[in-house]
Amino acid sequence: MAEKITKAIIPAAGLGTRMLPIARAVPKEMLPIVDRPAISYLVEEAVNAGCTDILIITNRDKDAIEDYFDYSVEYEQKLRAAGKNDKADEMRRIADMANVYFLRQKETKGLGHAVARARSFVGNEPFYVLYGDDVIISEAPVCRQLCDAYLKYGRPVVGVKEVTDELIVKYCSLKAEKLEGNVYSVSDMIEKPALENKFSNLSILGRVLLTPEIFDILDNTPPGAGGEIQLTDAMRVLARRDGFVAVDFEGERFDMGAKLGFLMANVKLGVKHKETGSEFAEFLKEFVKTL
Ligand code: UTP
Repeated sequence: MAEKITKAIIPAAGLGTRMLPIARAVPKEMLPIVDRPAISYLVEEAVNAGCTDILIITNRDKDAIEDYFDYSVEYEQKLRAAGKNDKADEMRRIADMANVYFLRQKETKGLGHAVARARSFVGNEPFYVLYGDDVIISEAPVCRQLCDAYLKYGRPVVGVKEVTDELIVKYCSLKAEKLEGNVYSVSDMIEKPALENKFSNLSILGRVLLTPEIFDILDNTPPGAGGEIQLTDAMRVLARRDGFVAVDFEGERFDMGAKLGFLMANVKLGVKHKETGSEFAEFLKEFVKTL
């Protein structure tokens, strides 16, 4: 079994219909939390968990993502000429923090289809998948939390949280039994279940650790919920056959693919921002009095 995981996939090719009309012109993964795009939080999380190689799955309208991880010579020259070396260094750091690769999905056929594009990138190693619009702020990177469980139990791992009935029908539901503390064994799962078909209110939220055996299964997975090739349907085959592990991770998740999640992320992280946080907090205190 691999002792460390160095590869991550970030599927970011979805249409983002919940974020229309802005998603028509700005990829939802590039929507800002104050001054940084959502996807930069994901790349940093993967790097902080030990990843050196990150594949971002995009589509034809998402070039802005590639540009963000490139050098920006003009900005850097201007910043250095003005003595703002720390700002220029920060831009370099973003571009240099990992080998970031890009691949187009070409057809938007679902999360499972997007992950299947990564077979040759992954080779024969375990890897992380970070869903491109799920930003998670945590003490230890969630990928690392999943890796700890993988090293202990030797099975693929999903990051989970308990969600409401209202959400479980939009996400997926897991058949799970507690192993210890915040770790569960998973024997089945279902994508977007009708309420009467849910196994539990535990749902996968944005992070999974998979092994390459998923690729043969994905290639044989027919379209499921919403007519899309669902990653959950492929993981279900593995869960039923050999079992999965689930970690109820420590961390706060923001769904940047939804209007409410985008607003909450900006308020919560806005008050912590080192340049503007305290002024923003003062503004908010006054503002809530008027609500
Ligand atoms: P979502 O279901 O949240 O993305 O997929 P979506 O389809 O863009 O959302 P809506 O419903 O239209 O608003 C989770 C992640 O999988 C990626 C998305 O970019 C997102 O980061 N994804 C989804 C792909 O890469 N390809 C797809 O075909 C679908």
